[in-house]
Amino acid sequence: MTLEDKIALCSGKDFWHTKDMPQYGLPSIMMSDGPHGLRKQEAEADMLGVNASVPATCFPTAVTTGSSWNVALMHKIGQAIAEEAIAYQVSIVLGPGVNIKRNPLCGRNFEYISEDPYLAGKMAADFIRGAEEKGVATSLKHFAGNSQETKRFTSDSVIDERTLREIYLTAFEIAVKEGRPKTVMCAYNKLNGIHCSDHKKLLTDVLRDEWGHQGIVVTDWGAMNDRIEGFKAGCDLSMPGGSDYMEADVANAVRSGALEEAVIDENVDRMIDLILQSAARLQKDAAFDQKAHHELAKAAAGEGIVLLKNKDNILPLQEGTKVALVGKMAEKIRYQGAGSSHINPTKLTQPKNVISHTAFAVGCDERGNTSEEMLKEAEHVAHTADVAIVFAGLTEVYESEGFDRKDMKMPEGHVRMIEAVASANPNTIVVLMCGSAVECPWADNVKGILYAGLSGQAGAEAIADILYGKINPSGKLAESWPMRYEDCISAKEYANQRDALYKESVYVGYRYYESAEVKVRFPFGYGLSYTTFSYDHLQVQPLADGMYQVICDVTNTGNIAGKEVVQTYVAAVNSEIFRPAKELKAFAKIDLEPGQTKQVAFVLNERSFAIYLGKTYMDAMDAGQVLAEGWYVPKGRYNIMIGSSSQKIELMQTISVDGMELKSPKWQKDSWYETLVGEPQQTTFEKMIGYSYTCKQHHKGEFTMEDTVEEMKNESFVMKLMYNASAMVIKKGVGGKITEDNEADYRMMLSSSVGSPLRSMMISSDMKGGLFYGLLDMANGHVFRGLGKLIGIVK
Ligand code: BGC
Repeated sequence: MTLEDKIALCSGKDFWHTKDMPQYGLPSIMMSDGPHGLRKQEAEADMLGVNASVPATCFPTAVTTGSSWNVALMHKIGQAIAEEAIAYQVSIVLGPGVNIKRNPLCGRNFEYISEDPYLAGKMAADFIRGAEEKGVATSLKHFAGNSQETKRFTSDSVIDERTLREIYLTAFEIAVKEGRPKTVMCAYNKLNGIHCSDHKKLLTDVLRDEWGHQGIVVTDWGAMNDRIEGFKAGCDLSMPGGSDYMEADVANAVRSGALEEAVIDENVDRMIDLILQSAARLQKDAAFDQKAHHELAKAAAGEGIVLLKNKDNILPLQEGTKVALVGKMAEKIRYQGAGSSHINPTKLTQPKNVISHTAFAVGCDERGNTSEEMLKEAEHVAHTADVAIVFAGLTEVYESEGFDRKDMKMPEGHVRMIEAVASANPNTIVVLMCGSAVECPWADNVKGILYAGLSGQAGAEAIADILYGKINPSGKLAESWPMRYEDCISAKEYANQRDALYKESVYVGYRYYESAEVKVRFPFGYGLSYTTFSYDHLQVQPLADGMYQVICDVTNTGNIAGKEVVQTYVAAVNSEIFRPAKELKAFAKIDLEPGQTKQVAFVLNERSFAIYLGKTYMDAMDAGQVLAEGWYVPKGRYNIMIGSSSQKIELMQTISVDGMELKSPKWQKDSWYETLVGEPQQTTFEKMIGYSYTCKQHHKGEFTMEDTVEEMKNESFVMKLMYNASAMVIKKGVGGKITEDNEADYRMMLSSSVGSPLRSMMISSDMKGGLFYGLLDMANGHVFRGLGKLIGIVK
């Protein structure tokens, strides 16, 4: 291949295809979003899920499948999505997403599996295996440190090495090592100062050399920062395309000796492998079984929906109960989120059509607003029924790719509707539809709460079957539900400035709530069943190589068959170095007939006890020990806990584990990391990351190509004009009027355009220099020089 062709092969042909090069026998292959279904676009393409895609099964989103804790189910979903991809001639499915749910407000939490890296990694690995064994490649995303939507194109995720390894990289590590995805998608953001697309340590040293990733790295759409650095880092494919000037720059760099051609060859080799293998697997005239996949989507929802409250065993409902349904969402279910994962379902069931009821009141409108009249009607129908079921949660505009929620509250109308119904009927049940935790100040006033998450196209059928006891609920929360947003340790820091400082370190989700003893509404790993389980006979036995076998008995002590998620947590007793109160290290979902007992066995390995010591922890080493950065098992006593949730520990045994004698790093003493009182201090955080951090928020005169129209608009007239023009064009594009149906799309499109740095606008427009540098000069107050560049007089 010529140098130019090699470089060209490493950027997409269009939105969804690689380039075909018949002269070398290379066809083009297609990719489509994931992660909970196939979003294959045939006509107008976009990365935001706005334009139509072909009909495909909309499986429950990751928030709901994540709550199933069922790896076999993930495997089946992976297989089913792959079958649909094959039928539609798609070679790569862009998913799963394993970014950690660091904070409940992240707009994309519904697309991610968990706040716990072990759970997220294990579930993703099985999804990947399921799809890849059918011959369809997956793309594990977004690598890495992409746990917020605010300023997702520009922010720097500042994460110390230990936290990165123990929390934010672990899910990727498990999924790569066990699932072997053919592609990994690098994130938009920077990680510790370096764009993920240019991050050699991330994409080569860790991903390939340490974890053994054999496939390619593809950029998130528009995430390529610098094509030369990208090649050096091992970033193979730039999507949706490159720009001619960037490719010419790469060729010049090779000619001048600044970049070795061998580096490009490695990238190209991987690309060719992927393309040829994928093309060989394409099948003509393949079809998929729509009905069977709809049933699988229902089964998945049935396993992932979580019963959060069941006072007086209000559920399951008896046949013949007079049921009133309340809420717009009973007529128009919220079953998936907005953005690139948006699926065009093959079928969609509405709760009102499948839940037998005697009365219905709409209770609120689609935006979640209510009125006195609507509330009166809701109270009336609730009053006349034996049981009232309210459908509430978050409406479309609250959760989307592209922006974060501003608080953790439900729409006020939903809260008022629940309260009105609960005051009219003591037997009130709330079915919650939302992609992440919400505040539930009304929780004590209702008898039942069923968390449906975003349950996919067959979600309503699963909800109906759970309400009437045809399915025994078995979902357990994959994220903690704090009482109030302020209880979340990252609340103050989250999305409050250009960069994302992960000051709370390893104290994410239950790791924080359990350690700091902060009361939560519903803990991680929690979920009720219509039956009960008992736990006995815990045994922990050493095996070879620092491994342990953990065995216990679980019995179904109720009258109906049910499934239980058995969770193994590990905690170091009196650890010198700060560590969370417990961490999930193994789990299994088992089904039990009434009265049946099953023995459950887990294996813990060295990693189950290890911590990662980055450079800033080196004085934690014993005097005289000069060791490399890496995973170490601290010697000491460990509690091995079997829980039915992170809070409810059923069995515990303490063991002594051999390992290294480690002391805490000097900066830890009396800090927040040790006491968990107050807030993490900036000074200690800087010691932990190893440098002093200053936020690079620019002002007029300092703006660079890394700044966005949105950031510059308040200080620059020309940027304000650009902002308003973008808003106008986008508004026109969604029909000229912002409605409930298009508001999320509007906000997402706006944030994706005015939130992009000038640099990426320049790359996607393929116009190097002039225009964008001119605009930048003008934003910085150099109007004439800027104009000169704009019209091409000044270079
Ligand atoms: C999203 C990715 C998605 C891609 C293609 C991006 O904006 O972040 O998750 O796969 O678009 O649609």
